Order: sequence, then structure tokens, then C-alpha cells
Amino acid sequence: MEIYLSNMKNMSRDNQLAKLRNVIAIDGPAGAGKSTVAREVAHRMQYVYLDTGAMYRALTVRALQEPVDLTEEAALAQLAARTDIELRPGTYEDSRVRVFVDQKEVTDQLRTPEVNEAVSYVAQSPAVRHHMKVQQRQLASAGWVVAEGRDIASHVLPEAGCKIFLTASLEERARRRWEELRAAGYQVHKETVQENLRQRDRIDSERKVAPLVRVPDAYMIDSSCLTIEQVVEMVVEYCKRGGLSAIRPG
Ligand code: DC
Repeated sequence: MEIYLSNMKNMSRDNQLAKLRNVIAIDGPAGAGKSTVAREVAHRMQYVYLDTGAMYRALTVRALQEPVDLTEEAALAQLAARTDIELRPGTYEDSRVRVFVDQKEVTDQLRTPEVNEAVSYVAQSPAVRHHMKVQQRQLASAGWVVAEGRDIASHVLPEAGCKIFLTASLEERARRRWEELRAAGYQVHKETVQENLRQRDRIDSERKVAPLVRVPDAYMIDSSCLTIEQVVEMVVEYCKRGGLSAIRPG
């Protein structure tokens, strides 16, 4: 995987830990609003946004293309080892993270119903998760990163200075995902979307390696009845209280 931030090789351990404290970890189930909130918090605090779900989705796009048997651990492990995933952070004008698999852009294929359905199976693989964790720690090692996912605070970056667990009711999360899909031109029933989310919640929370959990020191926000703006305000305030600087040094 190509790395777009600095790597940790030449840093002392204390320096690494200090940098990793300047990380905001946002975990939670699908559809809770993590991506929108993380992107906006990153913009406000001038941090880099790291969408770890996009990495699992990119590998899933590749797995479906080949195709690879999603229940075969050895095949998924091999696939993770030989696939090059590159994340290009958004710009000020276009905050979308662009994703490339083996140098081909797949950004528009990451959120199709097929990928939505398959991605939890890919993310269950211990080898895939190990591979992703190593890459994600390296990407975050420069600090000033907002990393969003399921296991960021619990496994990938437990040193993070600010940990948020963002959730919402299943019905509200399904409504949001359904509207997103409709806006992108997909004709799907809301009940199907809700069922898919329920299924993914179950797989993400029950898997053996790094399941979705709220760590005890994470600040819990239920976004069911909150606007994005309100959630962002809460996260930024919480980070400031935790001593994270609002602006990354230039
Ligand atoms: O956040 P998302 O919907 O884009 O995540 C896609 C899938 O990847 C989801 O099923 C859970 C998985 N995932 C994970 O297991 N760990 C992460 N850190 C991020 C995502």
C-alpha cells in the first residue's frame, strides 16, 4: 500500500506516542454519520481524514472483481498481501477521499449495494485486519489525523487522545443510508437497507478479531436526534477539553 503520510521508522518511541496522541478516533456502526462528522471535524481542526472503511471497501471491490471466495481465509490473506491500496486525501474544494486499487481509481465503486453486502465478510478475515492495522498505524503516525472505523480506539490506535463512539438507532441509520443510495441513483427498498445494516451490525460486533466495541474511555454520542453540526460541535469541544490542539502545525 502506498503511504501518503510520513512513516514511523525514524521516530523515537516517545515521539511516536506524542504524535499518536494527536489522533481523533471515531468508531461506531454503519450509518451513524461517522464519515460526514469525521470529514467536517478534520476540516475544522485542519487534520487529515483517514477513512479506514474505504480501505476495507477497496479490497472488497478487488475481491469481487477477481472473484475471490469471501469465506476462504487463505485467499483473502493472499489478496490483501498483493493488492496495493492508495488513499488520496481530499482537497479544500473537494473533501472526498479518492481511492485507488492497483493504480486504478475505484472511488465510485466503494458504496455499491454489492460492496455493502460483501464488505463485512472481507473485514472478518484476521489476515486482512492485521494487514490493515499495520497500514493504518503507519498512516496515522504523523499525527493530526481523524481516523474513522470500527476498531480504531480498541485496536488500531488505542493511544488516540480523543475517542468518540458515534451511534444512532437502526431505523435512523437505515433511513440515512437509503437516502444516500437513492441520491446516487440506486432503487432499493428501505427494509432491504435496514436488513443489510442489521446483518452488518451483527457481523461487525460478533467477529472474533477486533469486533466493534465501545472502549470505556470513549465519549458516546447518539446522533439519532442531532444534526451533523451539533455532533461536530460536540466532538470539537470534547477534543479541546482533552487537550488536542485545534490546528495542525504548518
Ligand atoms: O464505515 P464503512 O461502512 O465504510 O465500513 C465498511 C465495512 O468495513 C464495515 O462492514 C465494517 C468494516 N470496517 C471494519 O471492520 N473496521 C474498520 N476500522 C472500518 C471498517
